[in-house]
Amino acid sequence: MSAAERDTQVPARHTRFVTLQGHILEQQTHYPEASGTFSWILSALSISAKMIAAHVRRARLDDVLGSVGSENVQGEQQQKLDVIANEILLRTLGGRDGVAIVASEENEEPVILRTGLGGEQKYCVLFDPLDGSSNLDVCGGVGTIFSILRQDRRSTRPEDSLLQPGARQIAAGYVLYGPSTVFALTIGRGVDLFVLDPMYGAFMRVEQNVRIPKASKSYSLNEGNRLTFPEGYQRYLEWAQSQTYSSRYAGAMVADMHRILLKGGVFMYPPTKKAANGKLRLMYEANPMAMLVEQAGGKAFSAPGARILEIQPTDIHQRTPVIIGSSDEVDHVLRHLA
Ligand code: AHG
Ligand code: MN
Ligand code: MN
Repeated sequence: MSAAERDTQVPARHTRFVTLQGHILEQQTHYPEASGTFSWILSALSISAKMIAAHVRRARLDDVLGSVGSENVQGEQQQKLDVIANEILLRTLGGRDGVAIVASEENEEPVILRTGLGGEQKYCVLFDPLDGSSNLDVCGGVGTIFSILRQDRRSTRPEDSLLQPGARQIAAGYVLYGPSTVFALTIGRGVDLFVLDPMYGAFMRVEQNVRIPKASKSYSLNEGNRLTFPEGYQRYLEWAQSQTYSSRYAGAMVADMHRILLKGGVFMYPPTKKAANGKLRLMYEANPMAMLVEQAGGKAFSAPGARILEIQPTDIHQRTPVIIGSSDEVDHVLRHLA
């Protein structure tokens, strides 16, 4: 190649610098009917992620570790940062005309922002503002998880817009606040990954169309509850251990799922004696993670024959067991449960 040729060559696709904003604009070209409303919502999620990341990083210095002394609707102790992260998301999404309703794990009732019927398509955004928040005190990984649905414009009842099966999500993603801040996004065309560049304050695209490994001898669950799991899970664990599987559990779904997305394995939160449907929430945790994992080529079930994305929700705060990750690894679990 001559020097002149080298100078004029366009860099290969993977070496181009593309920000999350640029990526969203690029994707918009695949949807000629798109009005840009949806892109504005993603930009609200991006700025929220930057703000939450900054708060998480300063948590100890700002003295915002620990609980606020109140419980959320789930009966769990709210951490100070749960409240801060929730507030940030409500305030950024609240400013976007395209958002009709937001629902948060931390609020008992959904927040209705705009109810107008007809007109432009509006959206509902559901989120877990801070996932794994008890990890904060020990500087462990935490995250934000979100799910986006279309508003049902034929109805004024918020439940008609919110209680849609996960298969109808039009986008989902998570942000992991770890050694770096990672944004994983799907809008139904695979999964793309972005990392926050602290020098420029922008999420830079680092990987497109991530594929989850088909198999990996690794499981992730709270094994302390083992004796209270249904028998099938106990049989699976015996089998997996006989095959020298590794056990990895961060105590924050986002951190565990990020590892599984990149390296493979299976994440489970089974029913326990205390919680017949496990602990994780369908609308804020299971559905968005299920969409991401399926878009990356993996599987997500709540029980044999029960795909998470097909569950018809009846309550925005309902819980569901989850078995999610590499397709072969999910199959191994389901085989032992059957
Ligand atoms: P949250 O902090 O949003 O309530 O979620 C915590 C969840 C999830 O992130 C994690 O996988 C799981 O709870 C851990 O639960 P156990 O402590 O029961 O294992
Ligand atoms: Mn959570
Ligand atoms: Mn949470």
